Amino acid sequence: MTGDERENDLIRSVALQNASSILIARQRAEQELLEAKQALEKKTEELAQSLSMMRATLESTTDAILVTDEQGVITDFNENFVEMWRIPREIMDSRQHRLVRDAISQRFENPKQYDSRIDEIYSAAAPQASDVLELADGRIIERFSKVQSVEGRIVGRVWTFRDITERRLTEKALIEADRRKDEFLSVLAHELRNPLAAVLMAVRLLQRKGPPDPALQNLRAIIVRQTLLLTKLVDDLLDVGRITTGKMRLEKKHVALNTILKEAAEVCTLLIERRNHTLSVQFADPSLSLYVDAARIVQVVSNLLNNAAKYMNDGGQIELAASEEDGNAVIRVRDKGFGIPREMLDRIFQRFVQISTPGRSVDGLGIGLSVVKALVERHGGTVEAASEGLGKGSEFIVRLPVSVEPNE
Ligand SMILES: Nc1ncnc2c1ncn2[C@@H]1O[C@H](COP(=O)(O)OP(=O)(O)OP(=O)(O)O)[C@@H](O)[C@H]1O
Ligand SMILES: [Mg+2]
Repeated sequence: MTGDERENDLIRSVALQNASSILIARQRAEQELLEAKQALEKKTEELAQSLSMMRATLESTTDAILVTDEQGVITDFNENFVEMWRIPREIMDSRQHRLVRDAISQRFENPKQYDSRIDEIYSAAAPQASDVLELADGRIIERFSKVQSVEGRIVGRVWTFRDITERRLTEKALIEADRRKDEFLSVLAHELRNPLAAVLMAVRLLQRKGPPDPALQNLRAIIVRQTLLLTKLVDDLLDVGRITTGKMRLEKKHVALNTILKEAAEVCTLLIERRNHTLSVQFADPSLSLYVDAARIVQVVSNLLNNAAKYMNDGGQIELAASEEDGNAVIRVRDKGFGIPREMLDRIFQRFVQISTPGRSVDGLGIGLSVVKALVERHGGTVEAASEGLGKGSEFIVRLPVSVEPNE
């Protein structure tokens, strides 16, 4: 083989090698391209799937939803939105929040007011805002608006609308029914008051002038006791009526706190003795005085003492203590009785709420504490209940401002 021939051979074999490596590289590139294409198709499919999931979610809520971007362009909405506000399709197609706002504002008696509130929300960039909208056609819509952020960046707002007309009507009906019940109880109490007073007067007369037969005396004493009990119930009901209608009048004057404690203890002596309880009283500094309707504050403390005596087994201990704390007169009534479960501590101050546990007899109407709370609050004070739980006794704490010169 000549030198030229050897060189040609070499060139040919190198060329062959190049051609086959180019082929391999090309095949590899094609394979990679195919894989990339498949991956892209898969991703596109996943994206389409999650988009349709999102749409389905948007459409399956009962709320009406509108999404806008920072420039006031509508980026999304659901069919409920179009139906709730009856917005023509072409307005929705325009994607302009401005046009949608104009259409919605026509549903209000005062369109300007509606519109300016939206301006306010936009310009304040409030993270969230909620309003109740009353439409001219009587519908009531709750609107909730929240900024929409993607990866920490604010991109727009989501506006959610919920028709709460039914709920509002039910609430109104309940409030009305409650008002009628209060009115009925108040009228009933008024109607019962006079006959009861007449019965009491008649039986007291009989006690003095009737035949002195011991059996009859006993019967008359029963009538007196029960009539007094009924009178107390009726008086409580009358108080509730006065409180709910705002007709409770207070006759305030300066009074020593210790006087109130003594009078309240006296009112409850009978019950406390009958139940064999002992009452210990820790008086306040004698100079501590209140500017209050004394009879009403005596009523507060005696109601609490009464409860302490009622909700404890016979032979228990009741502590009544008064002191000054941070410029307030503080009255505490403590017992070692049945106690109050934690979840009832606030609720027992509501009218007609009583704790019913086995073995606990329930008498009364469940209004004593609601009267206590109303009276204390009318005097600018607070009352709270504390208890470690059932069987662990209870404590009621009343705080009232100490006497300052009245400015009324
Ligand atoms: N000291 C107490 N210990 C345990 N439970 C109490 C105490 N005081 C009140 N309660 C619970 O709170 C409920 C409400 O008390 P509230 O004084 O309002 O009504 P009542 O005593 O049932 O009836 P009344 O209208 O005659 O006062 C009571 O029924 C009782 O279950
Ligand atoms: Mg009571």
